[in-house]
Amino acid sequence: MSIKMKNIICIVSLSIFLFHFAQAQFQRTPEQDSLFARMQRKTQADFEQMRKQLGLTVPNRPGPSGNPDAPNAANREESKVNSYTLPDPLLLKNGKKVKDAKTWWEQRRPEIVEDFEREIYGRLPQNIPSVSWQVVAVKDTIVGIFLGKEKTLKGVVDNAAFPSIKVEIEMVLVTPAKQQEAVPVVIEFGFIRSPFGNMPPITPIGLGSAGEPTWKEQLLSKGWGYAVIVPNSIQADSGAGLSEGIIGLVNKGQPRKPDDWGALRAWAWGASRAIDYLETDKDVDAKRLAIEGLSRYGKAALVAMAFEPRFSLGFIGSSGAGGAKILRRVFGEQVENLASSAEYHWFCGNFIKYASILTPNDMPVDAHELVALCAPRPVFISAGSPHVEGQWVDAKGMFLGGVHAGGVYKLLGKKGLESAEFPPLGTPLVNGEIAFRQHAGGHSTGPNWSTWIAWACRYWGNGKYFD
Ligand code: GCU
Repeated sequence: MSIKMKNIICIVSLSIFLFHFAQAQFQRTPEQDSLFARMQRKTQADFEQMRKQLGLTVPNRPGPSGNPDAPNAANREESKVNSYTLPDPLLLKNGKKVKDAKTWWEQRRPEIVEDFEREIYGRLPQNIPSVSWQVVAVKDTIVGIFLGKEKTLKGVVDNAAFPSIKVEIEMVLVTPAKQQEAVPVVIEFGFIRSPFGNMPPITPIGLGSAGEPTWKEQLLSKGWGYAVIVPNSIQADSGAGLSEGIIGLVNKGQPRKPDDWGALRAWAWGASRAIDYLETDKDVDAKRLAIEGLSRYGKAALVAMAFEPRFSLGFIGSSGAGGAKILRRVFGEQVENLASSAEYHWFCGNFIKYASILTPNDMPVDAHELVALCAPRPVFISAGSPHVEGQWVDAKGMFLGGVHAGGVYKLLGKKGLESAEFPPLGTPLVNGEIAFRQHAGGHSTGPNWSTWIAWACRYWGNGKYFD
């Protein structure tokens, strides 16, 4: 049999396996069904109570559909994009232009932070309890062909004030086994165990995207480390979950106020607590830490990067609306989707207003200013191919989020995106402190890892290769 034939058979059998695997995983038992229904009712009730707190009597406008064949499909045509005016990141509320770094740091940046906290992502409460980290286990591990030292970590949140809610942040840290000195680490918002149940714990060698080494292998091969932090262990990913997790613990199980933090801010807070631990670990160089995530975790990565100065680099994967994508742009996912009962919990309650009595044009800030909050630290904005990933994430909208943050980077003596023209698929724009690349794959950061690493070397040095 020819090699080509063997490859085809292999791909077909793998697809059949994955199809049946996914089906088996997604068939819910009656108990799961009833739990799901209960959760949905709880989410709906929380969503309605927040609307009531906000005094919203007008129903929310529904968002467009992500299904391109639906009659109310989200816009996917550039020619149909609306015209909009973006708030100027370098214009003070008093109408004066920001002309120097001092004014940015002391006046304009705090104004933008305040707007994001009050209207979009919510504020961190005053009284967040402390986290104590425990090293649960240390063992040698093999990642592809690389040897690593794996630490299982647990960040236990002090719940003395409300013992019925327990929060334990889960994280694993893997550093190269042969390292002599503290190494840079990329923290991913992700999964330690597969969300689909019993998947093999170690990815088989080379089974990254398109047969490439996985991101973990690529980092270890450079002599860098990685950590995975589990967002759900910080805050559940649903409206129903707002009475639990770190948000529920601080509120003692009671509903949020309209400017209280949402899940994205809570996940980002968890990543800051991860840094607190990493600063104490002698295997880690806490001056060279990056945050990475995809999709909702890409949004969280950008929020973390914006609000946590200890992150030196960001890798923001397909973050779409609520992440790097300009929210005023009518293309792909819209504010109306984010502010619906399915996703409002990512944000503060006030955000719901923009899909009801207000519109996205009323927002005091937009996504480019979230990117600007990261300045002067380097951020890489990543997207997949519209043909494979689809248009929901709006790659160009994310690109524009980077473009319009450029002025702030420039003011601080850095370079934003090297071009304001949307590049052809695959073209890396990596010569500035804001970088962008739309890879040829799907909803993943996978195919952009090698480009990201090459870009990161400019800031972190070349690393030490291990064989
Ligand atoms: C939905 C949602 C996106 C989000 C994505 C994900 O598609 O609309 O905003 O990024 O889920 O996290 O997978």
